[in-house]
Amino acid sequence: MEKTNVAIVGLGTVGSGVARLLLDHGDRTARHAGRTMWLKKAVVRDLTRSRDVELPDGVLTDSLQEVIDDDEITVVAQLIGGLEPARTIMLSLLESGKDIVTANKALLAEHGAELFTRARELGRSIAFEASVAGGIPIIANISQCLSANQIGSLEGILNGTSNFIVTQMDENGASYDDVVREAQRLGYAESDPTMDVDGTDAAQKLAILAHLAFGATVDWSQIPRTGIDGLDPEDLLYAQKLGYRIKLLAIAHLANDGLELSVSPTLVPVGTPLAEVRDAYNAIQVIGDAVGPVFYHGLGAGQMPTASAVAADLIDTAVGRTRLTFQTLEYFSIDQPPRVKLRDGDTSRGRYYFRLSVSNHPGTLASIAAVLAQHEISIASVIQHEGREGGPQRDPVPLVIMTHMATEGQAKAATDDIQALASVTGPVVRLRVKD
Ligand code: NAP
Ligand code: HSE
Repeated sequence: MEKTNVAIVGLGTVGSGVARLLLDHGDRTARHAGRTMWLKKAVVRDLTRSRDVELPDGVLTDSLQEVIDDDEITVVAQLIGGLEPARTIMLSLLESGKDIVTANKALLAEHGAELFTRARELGRSIAFEASVAGGIPIIANISQCLSANQIGSLEGILNGTSNFIVTQMDENGASYDDVVREAQRLGYAESDPTMDVDGTDAAQKLAILAHLAFGATVDWSQIPRTGIDGLDPEDLLYAQKLGYRIKLLAIAHLANDGLELSVSPTLVPVGTPLAEVRDAYNAIQVIGDAVGPVFYHGLGAGQMPTASAVAADLIDTAVGRTRLTFQTLEYFSIDQPPRVKLRDGDTSRGRYYFRLSVSNHPGTLASIAAVLAQHEISIASVIQHEGREGGPQRDPVPLVIMTHMATEGQAKAATDDIQALASVTGPVVRLRVKD
């Protein structure tokens, strides 16, 4: 049987999982690839560190040069996180004639155009299925399976760590700090979990999907984003009472005047598919003009789901499928003018949830309603629990307002004006509501 020699660079959570698939299930991968997928080298920084996988003698090395100099190694899984040295390593591997598989979305979102252009110039390929939504094959689906469609909308939960945190806080009353630590222990979180919880990771993945689905050249840092790091457990409780769950939702909506992109904690109605996505699962709902709505659901973070996507890319690369699609599709092409422009986020329309802390005095509600009316925002419902008659008066009191449709610009301006009212005593919380 023919043999493809493979190397892994970076033997952390994902790299160890890929090594396990290649070593423990070589018969399976050989059957699916029609060739032996042979792990020849695994590059680490520290040879003395204990690893999550047992490697045959001679595979582990701390010398990247050994891989670069080995012409028998043709495909490399580059599984180091962050920007540098990952970018430089990827460029030197491409220069030395290797095809690359990666899970590093931060690197692609930041330097994708440079890396993809250089790979094309050199006649090499970069496969990146694992970079978005872990084990869900969303890259192949958008760029190949749905290629006859104009995608109009894409909405998803793209960060497993955030979804795990919110689920555990919501369902088990867990503390935010404890669940962040648990997400790190389980291998879901980035080495710097700030990128998971502040919306950066989801925005980087959304930028990659927007590129594939809409031909949008997006600087991920321009995507309006809010993470779950500031989420108050009180809002999870109010959302439940109102029949919603809060999810970190990444959205891309195509309209006549451009593409709207955002990442934000959003109230999603209980019973709808996205609301039921729990723990480290991810989900993406895509609407194509021919296919209609399609829903993808699966584990978006963690060792083996991510390794599953990387190993599939290794096989696709070894058999030549990646090169076919990589050379022809307009992934991150510098020469390609963007097919759509980004819409001004303030023009996007939706419903809103406001939670305020207000003085328990006559006229307070009227003054807040007046501000919303000035901004042409109509109130759909209000929750304010009354104190017991004759019992101790609560002051300040929480006030929750659900609105009808408004633009983001109107909602922002109303937030500022409400915040300035003397009767409003704490920061105004404003969240999007998905219909
Ligand atoms: P990780 O556990 O931190 O592993 C990264 C590995 O890279 C570490 O083992 C580290 O070595 C190694 N490394 C760093 N610099 C190196 C260098 N110069 N030479 C050789 N090795 C080096 O991270 P991970 O969770 O596996 O994630 C890897 C990539 O996959 C990241 O880009 C991440 O965003 C992406 N990803 C992760 C998941 C997930 O669920 N974990 C899912 C999808 C995508 P040491 O062991 O010596 O520190
Ligand atoms: N840290 C990422 C997440 C890993 O939690 O979704 C998968 O990309």
